[in-house]
This record gives sequence, C-alpha cells and structure tokens, in this order.
Amino acid sequence: MKTAITEMFNIEHPIIQGGMHFVGFAELAGAVSNAGGLGIITGLTQRTPELLAKEIARCHDLTDKPFGVNLTFLPAFSAPPYPEYIAAIREGGIKIVETAGRSPEQYMPALKAAGIKVIHKCTSVRHSLKAEQIGCDAVSVDGFECGGHPGEDDMPNMILLPRAAEELKIPFVASGGMADARGLVAVLAMGAAGMNMGTRFIATKEAPVHDNVKKALVAASELDTRLVMRAIRNTERVLKNAGVDRLLEIEREKGAKLKIEDIRDEVAGVYPKVMIDGDMDAGAWSCGMVVGLIHDIPTVKELIDRIMADAEELIQNRLMGFLDTESKASLKVA
Ligand SMILES: Cc1cc2nc3c(=O)[nH]c(=O)nc-3n(C[C@H](O)[C@H](O)[C@H](O)COP(=O)(O)O)c2cc1C
Repeated sequence: MKTAITEMFNIEHPIIQGGMHFVGFAELAGAVSNAGGLGIITGLTQRTPELLAKEIARCHDLTDKPFGVNLTFLPAFSAPPYPEYIAAIREGGIKIVETAGRSPEQYMPALKAAGIKVIHKCTSVRHSLKAEQIGCDAVSVDGFECGGHPGEDDMPNMILLPRAAEELKIPFVASGGMADARGLVAVLAMGAAGMNMGTRFIATKEAPVHDNVKKALVAASELDTRLVMRAIRNTERVLKNAGVDRLLEIEREKGAKLKIEDIRDEVAGVYPKVMIDGDMDAGAWSCGMVVGLIHDIPTVKELIDRIMADAEELIQNRLMGFLDTESKASLKVA
C-alpha cells in the first residue's frame, strides 16, 4: 500500500509502532521495521543519552530498515537533557523522530538541521495545526480511545480524524483504538495516511515485556481501562488493576485538591515492576480501549501481514461490493 506516510518514511506498510515506555526497546522496534512498518525506540526509557546511543546501535544490528526514536517532552520541572538525547539520535543516524507531550518547537531547529523528519503526536486539531506551523513533517492524531495521555478534550477519533483532515495540509496518521485491518481501512477513509498502534504491539511475541502483561491484554475487555490523573490535568488511560483501584480511591477522596505527591506510589516507578517483573497490580500503566480487540499474541510479522492482507480483502470485497454495477464499470474504465 502506498500513502503519503509510506513515501515520507520510506516504509512498505502505513503502520507505525508508537513510542512506549519500557516496551519500545530495540527488539520491538527492529521487528516492526523488519515487517515493513515503522518501529520506534522510546528515547526516555533509556536513562541517559549514552544508553540511548547503545539502544540505537542495537536496533541497527537488528534491522537495515528505517526506524525512529520517540522523544516525549515532559513538564519543565523534570526536563531530561534533551539536547544530549537529540545528539545521540543524530549521531545514531536516525532520520525519523516521533515527538510527544509538550510542543517540540524549541528543538525543531536542531532536529531539522540533522535532516530528521518529525512526526508530532497531538490530541487536538489546534495542536496539530500548531505542529504544522512550526515545521513538523507529519502529525500522529491521537483520539480519546488511546492508551497513554489522551489530553483533556475527550475527542474520539471518529470526529477528530475527519476534523484533522479538514484542517491539515501535512499528512497525518491516526493513533488510538486500532488493532486490525478494520481500523486501518476506517482511518484511511477518514483522511489519515496510516495508523499508529501502541497497545496492540505489546501483545506480540517480540515485545520484550513479561508474559503476564501479554496475557493480561488478551484477557481484558474494552471495559477494563480507566482514566487517572484528570484532576491534575495529566489524564492517562491505564489498565484497571489493584494499584489503579487504590489510586482512584485516593482521587475520589482528594477531589480537586489532588496533588501528584498523593498518588506517587501508584504512578511512579510502576513501568519496570509491570513490564519487567510482571507485577500486574503495581499501579498505573498506559493501555488503550483497543485492548478489547486483542485476542492473540502473534509475531509482529504475522500481525502486520494479517492486517495488510485483511485490509486489501476489506477494500476489494466488502467496500467495492457496496458499489452498484454502474460505479464498478466506471472504475474499470478509469
Ligand atoms: C504501555 C504504553 C506506554 C506508552 N508510553 C508512551 C511514551 O513514553 N511516549 C509517548 O509518546 N507515547 C506513549 N504511549 C502512547 C503510544 O505511543 C500510542 O500513541 C498509543 O498507545 C496509541 O493508542 P493505542 O494504545 O490505542 O494504540 C504509550 C502507550 C502504551 C500502551
């Protein structure tokens, strides 16, 4: 399949694996890129720029195909050394960066000077337009369904994507809520040039996380995610567990007075406990509503091949099947 995104990133299929804390290591990014998608290493999971440089080198050993690095811009008080991370990305020969969180504006000159294409993840049309204005090459438009931080507008992709298509000149991929060909074909119809998946890629053989995590995703339904941290305007969609129940109880007690210190035990340092140790009740970790559509643990290649084969079948048979004979005849002539 050829779209503005496959052309821009020089990839075979319009499928991106979004950056994921303690999941987006070289093993997963390499597997996604080898399968024809765009794999992304999560920059800040590497505690230092030196460690990121090593992770990038490891991924180069696993694939000759293009892969990217995610740089999540956190609130200023906890800012990691971003210029050094960008230097590691540049020196590692990376040509695609997925930015997220705060605006990447301050770092655009450094990224552009290194010939890097920037795809910024946005949860609203206004932020997407801002990304376009500051020179981002593409946007990942992230709906309310998504795992991670959906923003505060609560706008589902069914509305957000066509609105983005109405306003944006640069290409965008849809993010949040996609696991299969039905999602891909739907978002292409709404104007996206591809899709970004997070949660679905965790339940694959190559994802370097504890088996308990993969099993929990297969067992969960679309009703099993919760929104946390709304009171401090850092809303996150997470998988329900005993730690999240505790967190929600504290949030109910504190109401609008909630402070990050009140929930530190349930949100800080949770990822290694879940992803490495497999402690599924440790606290809040991102998970999308799409978990309800995850029923197996295939290899990344099986997953991507299945999505592309099913997408072709959906377009050629289901969608084309809706056209009347006259429309079909005119298509054959064209
Ligand atoms: C476990 C997990 C960790 C994530 N960590 C990050 C992160 O560090 N930075 C980021 O930009 N997005 C992060 N995300 C968001 C994903 O990149 C992606 O945008 C999102 O998962 C898309 O929604 P979906 O899960 O419905 O596919 C994370 C998502 C998950 C599920």
